[in-house]
Amino acid sequence: MNDVLRAVEILRRGGLVAFPTETVYGLGCDATNAAAVQRVFEVKGRPSTNPLIVHVADVSVARRYAAEWPEKAEKLAKRFWPGPLTLVVRKQPVIVASVTAGLGTVGLRSPDHPLTLELLREFDGPVAGPSANRSTHVSPTSARHVKDEFGSSVDLILDGGSCRVGIESTVLDVTGEVPTIYRPGGISREQIEAEIGPVKMFQGTASKKAAAVSPGQQSVHYAPVATAYRYDLAQIPQVVQWCLGNLGKSWAILSLELLALDPAAAELLPIVSVGGRGPVHKLIQMPENAKEYARRIYATFRALDEEGVEVIWVQMPAEQAEWVAVRDRLRRATKAK
Ligand code: TXA
Ligand code: MG
Repeated sequence: MNDVLRAVEILRRGGLVAFPTETVYGLGCDATNAAAVQRVFEVKGRPSTNPLIVHVADVSVARRYAAEWPEKAEKLAKRFWPGPLTLVVRKQPVIVASVTAGLGTVGLRSPDHPLTLELLREFDGPVAGPSANRSTHVSPTSARHVKDEFGSSVDLILDGGSCRVGIESTVLDVTGEVPTIYRPGGISREQIEAEIGPVKMFQGTASKKAAAVSPGQQSVHYAPVATAYRYDLAQIPQVVQWCLGNLGKSWAILSLELLALDPAAAELLPIVSVGGRGPVHKLIQMPENAKEYARRIYATFRALDEEGVEVIWVQMPAEQAEWVAVRDRLRRATKAK
């Protein structure tokens, strides 16, 4: 039996299957099986107030699980599915209440990965699937990351290679008059507005207790184990000073501009170029292209955690439309110094 068919059997009997998508890996279970859903929350250490998104093969399957399927949902799904857009709509009761943290709505998405689309077609049902990481930790973008997170508490990991998008889907609520983006992601606000007209960005941070609004808005989320600080161009001299003053610690700088060209960095270069034992000192040039950056960021955080880096300095990208989703994740992963 191939892996996809094994995965379908595991889902049918209430097990957990980690699956690849174009965004990040998901931790899947049958969204109509309350016991299986319970296990997903337990394995992740996820608060029961944070709803899971549900994956479907295509628009026709999505319609089955939506109590209402607005015109705007239809348009967006036709245009962007399979793809990194989750549509929040009113749900059918067959999706168990714990999946949606008791909310009357469900986030539906058809992911763009051939293995997982085959899984969803064969299963022919709704697969609840949060990102396959422990709650608040960095999302996994490879099968090995999932293994590192969960080891054998997952029944099967489908290996579909590295994720092409690298950060999570855009979550858009289409139940209201004006649709609301709860989480920016792989499909931009501009792309959405070009299809359905104006949408708004959810403002503010959800409380830890209430599932009334999107809990993905929790301010600490998607974070590495290391302490991460954000900085902008003007702060380079302070960052350099901090690094020089903390040579006893392991640190890394994720730079966008060529920090190497900044006069303040001249003193840093001999240090970061030295290898060998002792504390790790790294200067990593991140991609200047937003899509490329998104693809790399979580794997970079994980690699630095593995090397025992204690402090990560992250240069914030410019406030431009193409960086909205990356900036959102970096703000949640870092603190201001
Ligand atoms: O790209 C993705 O979306 C990945 C892959 C695996 O598909 N999944 C993912 O799932 O990131 P998760 O559970 O880690 O994040 C889902 C986000 C959370 O921020 C959650 O609060 C929000 O969607 N969400 C889910 N259902 C919702 C609902 N009914 N209303 C509002 N927000 C919802
Ligand atoms: Mg997540």
